[in-house]
Amino acid sequence: MSDFTSNFWSIYVAGITIVSIVACLLLLILTGKSKGMSTSDNTTGHVWDGDLREMNNPLPRWWAWLFVITIVFSFIYLALYPGLGTYGGKLGWTSVGQHQAEVDKGNAEVAPLYAKFSAMKPEDVAKDAQAMAIGERLFMNNCAQCHGSDARGNKGFPNLTDNDWLGGGTPEIIKADITKGRIAVMPPMAAAVGTAEDVKNLAQYVLSLSGSPHDSVQAALGKEKFAVCAACHGIDGKGNQTLGSANLTDNIWLHGYGEAAIVAMINEGKTNQMPAQADKLTEAQVHVLASYVWGLSNKGGIAAQ
Ligand code: HEC
Ligand code: HEC
Repeated sequence: MSDFTSNFWSIYVAGITIVSIVACLLLLILTGKSKGMSTSDNTTGHVWDGDLREMNNPLPRWWAWLFVITIVFSFIYLALYPGLGTYGGKLGWTSVGQHQAEVDKGNAEVAPLYAKFSAMKPEDVAKDAQAMAIGERLFMNNCAQCHGSDARGNKGFPNLTDNDWLGGGTPEIIKADITKGRIAVMPPMAAAVGTAEDVKNLAQYVLSLSGSPHDSVQAALGKEKFAVCAACHGIDGKGNQTLGSANLTDNIWLHGYGEAAIVAMINEGKTNQMPAQADKLTEAQVHVLASYVWGLSNKGGIAAQ
């Protein structure tokens, strides 16, 4: 327990624990010996509801022994297991250790299975029903909170089933995305574009790229402003997977559809990050997961059907 900066709190906590247990024992002994004030008829003298009296009998023997056993048990327990301040207990048990042992046991059980999948090509793993069942569970536990349980994503979190990729959709790239995470940065561009009017016109032009409803006069005015966007999104607006810039011609809108959403992107920019998963997953798990994700949008993958 490194949370304590000095020994004081450990001794303090352990002291309170021991004093409490000893106090219980003393209480038991004292109440066992002394008889409270009693009347001649062996009642406490309290009477309720006319004739309901409280007797003044000692605890039954077996009952008192149960208390004693509990106290003895607590001493044995505290000697073996952690419970007294920072004292770790004779058995050296920790919850982290137990968890790790269970995880290790589970990993050892599935190791041969993972070894088999690791030796297979992702395209083949995507056709293996057992691997895909594992992949789906891994996805539910590690990815669904952001990408949705159906992997269709949400605003800001890409849909992984549509074969539209910010960074590329080969199993290798998907693997790298999972292991290292992703960070996409679009800087605020308003200053480079011009006035608020210019920004609106440009947004109309961006809408026109995907054939979305737009004002063609405004779009024509905005067209030349797209030059500042072309560095990342390409002259044709189709995006650049190496930069992770979105394709603006495909009517798939990660950050919202319509003039207001595009104006917001231009004015505020966006930093979108997927945290690296390397610490949470083994290489073999990443292999199965990448195959699963690849299979979501590629024929031949079970998950896509
Ligand atoms: C904390 C949220 C979060 C979690 C958890 C997460 N992701 Fe992501 N993921 C994102 C975001 C945000 C992006 C978009 C990054 C960007 O804009 O480039 C992304 C992008 C991706 C991409 C690239 C998509 C593309 O179009 O190129 C893949 C593949 C992916 N995630 C797979 C996974 C898998 C598999 C898991 C589970 C191991 C996972 N993600 C867990 C947030 C998350
Ligand atoms: C420095 C590179 C860079 C420049 C310059 C840039 N963008 Fe982007 N843009 C990005 C990246 C990267 C993304 C993807 C963000 C993500 O993955 O979440 C993006 C996303 C977008 C989106 C969201 C697409 C969607 O699917 O929701 C819009 C709209 C957009 N850019 C418009 C523009 C416009 C208009 C300009 C010019 C004024 C511009 N961008 C300039 C890098 C850039």
